[in-house]
Amino acid sequence: MNQNPKIWIINGPNLNLLGEREPGIYGSQTLADIEKSLQDQAQEYPEKPVLSFYQSNSEGRLVDWIQAARHEADFVLLNAGAYTHTSVALRDAIVGSQVQAIELHLSNVHAREDFRKTSYISAVCVGQIAGFGADSYHLALEAAIRLYRKNSNI
Ligand code: DQA
Repeated sequence: MNQNPKIWIINGPNLNLLGEREPGIYGSQTLADIEKSLQDQAQEYPEKPVLSFYQSNSEGRLVDWIQAARHEADFVLLNAGAYTHTSVALRDAIVGSQVQAIELHLSNVHAREDFRKTSYISAVCVGQIAGFGADSYHLALEAAIRLYRKNSNI
């Protein structure tokens, strides 16, 4: 694998409201702030990963992007928001497209309401990162790069 790794960052419902939405839980950074700092982080890696950002409140669009990722992306960093806890369709999309997905959440979903402890996608993702606020995105990017290196036998 000599090309720059392609990493898609896909965000689900209500994550467009980051910064104004329940800042005590989700922090004060907007999604644009997080995307900018992910781009800064990406530049630090010698592999120079190419990041693409997507956000939708619609489950079907998320499914479409996960399917598209099978041809276009090496990894998907997925914050599926509330669909994490409900969506068989997202799970099937990840399995069906055989994309390597990393599940991420700003909040520690395991320390919140019981319904957030269930994830329909965890079992079909490489792993889950949750509870580090905006840093969950940075840790997920780091995890993707490490996987990429492992797959490339570096
Ligand atoms: C979230 C956690 C979900 O339970 C919630 O529905 C969200 C955001 C997180 O990033 O902490 O929308 O995915």
